Amino acid sequence: MTVSSAPGKVYLFGEHAVVYGEPAVPCAVERRATVSVSLRDDDHVRVRAEDLSLNGFTVEYSGSTGTRPDVDVPTPLVEAAMGYIDAAVEQARDAADAPDAGFDITVESDIPLGAGLGSSAAVVVAGIDAATRELGVELTPREIADRAYQAEHKVQEGQASRADTFCSAMGGAVRVEGDDCRTIDAPALPFVIGFDGGAGDTGALVSHVRGLRDQYDFAADTVETIGNIVRRGEKLLSEADPDSDPSEELLEELGEFMNFNHGLLEALGVSSRSLDSMVWAAREAGAYGAKLTGAGGGGCTVALDPTPETNTALRFTPGCEDAFRAELATEGVRVESEETGATERDQ
Ligand code: PMV
Repeated sequence: MTVSSAPGKVYLFGEHAVVYGEPAVPCAVERRATVSVSLRDDDHVRVRAEDLSLNGFTVEYSGSTGTRPDVDVPTPLVEAAMGYIDAAVEQARDAADAPDAGFDITVESDIPLGAGLGSSAAVVVAGIDAATRELGVELTPREIADRAYQAEHKVQEGQASRADTFCSAMGGAVRVEGDDCRTIDAPALPFVIGFDGGAGDTGALVSHVRGLRDQYDFAADTVETIGNIVRRGEKLLSEADPDSDPSEELLEELGEFMNFNHGLLEALGVSSRSLDSMVWAAREAGAYGAKLTGAGGGGCTVALDPTPETNTALRFTPGCEDAFRAELATEGVRVESEETGATERDQ
């Protein structure tokens, strides 16, 4: 069995605009998805998911998830989760040139689903790493990022950027602009996350922004302005000393840019009442800045605050279900344990 894990992420800047070729800066955070994979003797794939939904589920299928398994959890949730796992399996089989490989897969995740923290990317990244290792192939984090992107791209029908998958595979802060993906040596930022308990529909939200952008010049300008904020923000980050605590001045400037970024996302119609409430609660508690993270519509906000104040304020904010501090995850995808893999099996 091989066990791999990969982190979720927050967007410091640039979600939505990244879809149109503007840069984005996501940062990996210490909330991980862990995927355990054992090679089977047949071509079946059996998936057990814990903590992925409220209930968890177990399904077994052969070939693809086209014929939906008979399980007792809401269809869209299973289909979403299975779609990503199926695409990860396809990538692993392709990477190892093992089209008929079967696997027993267990997914555990402490990243809220579909809430802007990159849960699906983390599952796909960790899944590809564990399944390829189980087949005796070791991919580099960049290769995993690329395959995970192909997997997400397929499931999200071409709407995905490389941001989530690259950030989860590499860890730390990254910069993504189209196909150009780089890591940034950034100091550990004091992230505080608020979660409203819900999830946004990424596909619908991306389509909404695309429609606005096609229809109105000022919406296209808004997307471009987000890109300008990202460029200013990433410059600040890359000039800071990555080995020291971030200075007050840096946090103030980054926070101001985050507030700006949130306002523009709000203008594009991807915020929500609960996300706005959490953003305002964080600002009023003294955070340097706050914004929604990810596709929006519901899910999570991210604030910068080294003190406990924002976390406490969020816990008392109507509409906020959970609040937690999230350290920057300097490590991206990593193997947690490797027992008997393909090498031994093949002997
Ligand atoms: O909500 P998430 O974590 O899936 O992020 C979506 C970010 C978008 O920019 C809206 C889409 C994308 O693929 O970059």
